[in-house]
Amino acid sequence: MRNTAKLLWLLMIFSDIVPFSCEKSMRERAIELMQDARLIDGHNDFVLQLRILYQNRLSRVNLRELNRTHTNLVKLQAGYVGAQFWSVYVLCSAQNKDAVRLTLEQIDVVKRMCNSYEELELVMTSQGISDSRRIACLIGIEGGHSIDSSLATLRMYYDLGVRYMTLTHSCNTPCCRINLSVYIYQLNGFLSGNLIMTLLSVHLHSSAFSVCNHSRNVPDDILQQLVSDTGIIMVTFNADVLACGRKVVNISTLADHFDHIKEIAGSESIGIGGDYDGVERFPEGLQDVSKYPSLIEELLRRGWNETELKGVLRENFLRVFREVENKDEGGEEGRRLDETEAFPTVTSTNASAETSRLLASYCFYLQG
Ligand SMILES: *[C@@H]1O[C@H](CO)[C@@H](O)[C@H](O)[C@H]1NC(C)=O
Ligand SMILES: *[C@@H]1O[C@H](CO)[C@@H](O)[C@H](O)[C@H]1NC(C)=O
Ligand SMILES: *[C@@H]1O[C@H](CO)[C@@H](O)[C@H](O)[C@H]1NC(C)=O
Ligand SMILES: *[C@@H]1O[C@H](CO)[C@@H](O)[C@H](O)[C@H]1NC(C)=O
Ligand SMILES: *[C@@H]1O[C@H](CO)[C@@H](O)[C@H](O)[C@H]1NC(C)=O
Ligand SMILES: *[C@@H]1O[C@H](CO)[C@@H](O)[C@H](O)[C@H]1NC(C)=O
Ligand SMILES: [Zn+2]
Repeated sequence: MRNTAKLLWLLMIFSDIVPFSCEKSMRERAIELMQDARLIDGHNDFVLQLRILYQNRLSRVNLRELNRTHTNLVKLQAGYVGAQFWSVYVLCSAQNKDAVRLTLEQIDVVKRMCNSYEELELVMTSQGISDSRRIACLIGIEGGHSIDSSLATLRMYYDLGVRYMTLTHSCNTPCCRINLSVYIYQLNGFLSGNLIMTLLSVHLHSSAFSVCNHSRNVPDDILQQLVSDTGIIMVTFNADVLACGRKVVNISTLADHFDHIKEIAGSESIGIGGDYDGVERFPEGLQDVSKYPSLIEELLRRGWNETELKGVLRENFLRVFREVENKDEGGEEGRRLDETEAFPTVTSTNASAETSRLLASYCFYLQG
């Protein structure tokens, strides 16, 4: 009897301790993993906040401990972010007006920011990301309105270091009310693939349509195509896109999207594009850029292994980026447009979800 009592007592102690110590080691495993494979995040709108809050005057603000945004340098480090695509986004109201100047000003502020803080370093290549011991800064344009229908402008953005451009955002952009397939074909020819994501399916800051049927999310058939295209979906943390009206949106909601996409397309097709400072609402427990380890912890708990998670954090994106860079060198795709050829202004189709879906199979389908 006494032994049984002892055993029960021990069991009771263990039933308390075991889940606790298990949880702790999950956290530790997540941190170790991220130290080894620091996150490459595909989308952050912090520099839009710099314009809104500080008119891009960096001297007025300490980016290390700024608190009015989801992002600051201390939090990026705490979140084990190794590379960040800073989105240079200008509001739709700038379309057909000063969108190009505003975009240039946003590129300028990224460059000044990344050159003036020792925690940061501007890079333009996959090798640059791999070599960087700091937080590597890259630039992406959000929304075709930034090029003002001018391929020459796009080419100059590339020279300035821009490495992706999403085609559509919420603006009704002339550049996207064209036959997208023509557009994409010409882009491929024009840039020979050197603007990132051409020829490859890349979905930036979207999630799974089956889990939440938000128009920005990606349906299963397109997810499946990511496998043959060796493309990538960089999952957003935007609570509204994840939630579909659910009251509680937390790490589990986000992890459900990850589980679903893994089931359909495999973990190799997944990356992260948090969208911090681009929207207001994030899942509980993921309020700012320091919280990425909590997601990794949850995915470990759900049985994701370390290889899969290193892929999600870093390797999958690097694979896609390298592939784009190699295509660039090959330069085989499409007709090369190296003169000032006018941007196509056909309006026979528009960037409806259907059009985009059809085209997603072969490239550059990015929906903001
Ligand atoms: C940011 O918030 C932290 C914690 O709430 C506080 O200690 C710090 O002083 C704040 N920094 C700034 C610049 O407001
Ligand atoms: C769009 O362009 C492609 C390539 O030229 C063509 O095959 C397709 O029929 C066009 N679609 C429409 C709706 O015009
Ligand atoms: C999402 O599902 C709801 C309920 O089934 C439906 O009313 C809504 O139209 C759907 N939205 C989209 C974009 O399919
Ligand atoms: C998220 O919320 C759901 C529903 O309230 C709950 O069952 C789940 O445990 C929560 N997950 C986390 C990680 O807090
Ligand atoms: C991790 O999971 C993948 C399948 O997604 C599997 O191929 C691989 O062998 C696993 N690695 C380890 C170390 O268990
Ligand atoms: C845009 O696409 C929608 C859905 O395919 C279609 O109903 C609409 O007529 C199109 N608009 C234009 C201007 O082509
Ligand atoms: Zn954005």
